[in-house]
Amino acid sequence: MNLTLKIWRQTGPDDTGGLVTYRMSDISPDMSFLEMLDVLNEKLNANGEEPIAFDSDCREGICGMCGLMISGHAHGPERTTTCQLHMRSFKNGDTITVEPWRAEAFPIVRDLVVDRGGLDRIIQAGGYISANTGSAPDAHATPVPKDNADRAFMAAECIGCGACVAACPNASGMLFLGAKITHLGELPQGQPERDARVVSMVGQHDHEGFGGCTNVGACSQACPKGIPQDVISQLNKDLRTALKHGR
Ligand code: FES
Repeated sequence: MNLTLKIWRQTGPDDTGGLVTYRMSDISPDMSFLEMLDVLNEKLNANGEEPIAFDSDCREGICGMCGLMISGHAHGPERTTTCQLHMRSFKNGDTITVEPWRAEAFPIVRDLVVDRGGLDRIIQAGGYISANTGSAPDAHATPVPKDNADRAFMAAECIGCGACVAACPNASGMLFLGAKITHLGELPQGQPERDARVVSMVGQHDHEGFGGCTNVGACSQACPKGIPQDVISQLNKDLRTALKHGR
């Protein structure tokens, strides 16, 4: 495949940045998108040019490190992570624009790398269970109804990649936040801190500069794990209940 890439280059947070055009030839349709960028970086290195900075780790769709805006779509044209996107999703001769996640709460570090520490700080604000449970109990010692267990597992699939934020016109992190709240809220172990958790995590979300949800639904469509929008309803319900309880 022959492709034209327009890639965002920015030397650092204070640089204004801009799109730079690269022509690629003989790209295998079976390459992943990141492998295609690796090939480009090898060429840039060979020419003594600065390689393009981008994030990745597992390259298996499980860690949430990768994330690019590809021709205006978070993670590209398929519902998957950028590392699991393959070049067969594009046509020979295509022009592909590659940009970093765009959100005030995700400042650009360099090229395609953004600082997603805001998501980590939301977790630090309450996305955990602090009760001392002693040694690991038998798996069946705390019965969890099947429906609750299924919903907790569904919400726990969120890998925190930030695609929901990048896709949202408000740059809201509420799908991410709703997934974390739903995950713990469905389990008995999550009940003692339920009110404090939601108040603290929502406060941190807003403090980080993420926007509010206006029910656009782009977050859920972009989510590589298919987290449904109703976790945001759960989040709002939990917040209302916590405020009623005087939190
Ligand atoms: S690199 Fe881990 S999900 Fe893409």
